[in-house]
Amino acid sequence: MEINLEYHYGQTPLDEEEKQGLLIASIATQGELDEFEQQNIEQSIQWLWMRPLKPETIFTEKFIREVHRKMYGQVWRWAGNFRKTNKNLGVDRWVISTELKVLLEDALFWVNNNSWPPDEMAVRFKHRLVSIRCFPNGNGRHSRLMADIIIEKIFKQPVFSWGASDLIQQTEPRTTYIKAVKTADAGDIQPLLSFARS
Ligand SMILES: Nc1ncnc2c1ncn2[C@@H]1O[C@H](COP(=O)(O)OP(=O)(O)OP(=O)(O)O)[C@@H](O)[C@H]1O
Ligand SMILES: [Mg+2]
Repeated sequence: MEINLEYHYGQTPLDEEEKQGLLIASIATQGELDEFEQQNIEQSIQWLWMRPLKPETIFTEKFIREVHRKMYGQVWRWAGNFRKTNKNLGVDRWVISTELKVLLEDALFWVNNNSWPPDEMAVRFKHRLVSIRCFPNGNGRHSRLMADIIIEKIFKQPVFSWGASDLIQQTEPRTTYIKAVKTADAGDIQPLLSFARS
């Protein structure tokens, strides 16, 4: 079945090959897809919250991919696999693994050396992770969950509120969020840091 997915501001379109990876044949609309993904993500959160996790486990390619696979594995065949095509955003597909490795080493260093306050470490990690765009889709939600994992598991602090709304919908918080991401791209992490706790 041909599905026509509409894209909200700041979402990357899937190419044909990625659309082929849809595991649930009955999904026909963006709304249904959002719902299945959301259910899958909620299950992944249950799986996560029972596990104690150390920085040495969290900051590995294996774990980064495992989280993505748990979040979307019931919906997308390519869940947990790095992207094989280039997008208008993100690094070239050939350097995903290398760029991620650099980020993971940096993050472990930040944690071991208290380079920034906990919230800032988590949000800086989230921002650099989403800039790489490891996966065909779901990078935004994956990066926000990774920040939640860092703040909860490593620093024992409450998870972020991310504008306290459903960022998938085209709403004011989403516009604020994308603006904050772009400001972080330009080198100022502050708006994204505030948004994460708003
Ligand atoms: N114009 C932009 N410049 C830089 N980063 C952007 C831009 N638009 C979106 N982003 C980033 O890309 C993410 C969306 O990527 P992707 O579609 O892979 O993730 P998602 O989980 O499906 O979406 P979302 O984050 O919207 O829930 C956003 O969360 C944001 O971090
Ligand atoms: Mg998307």
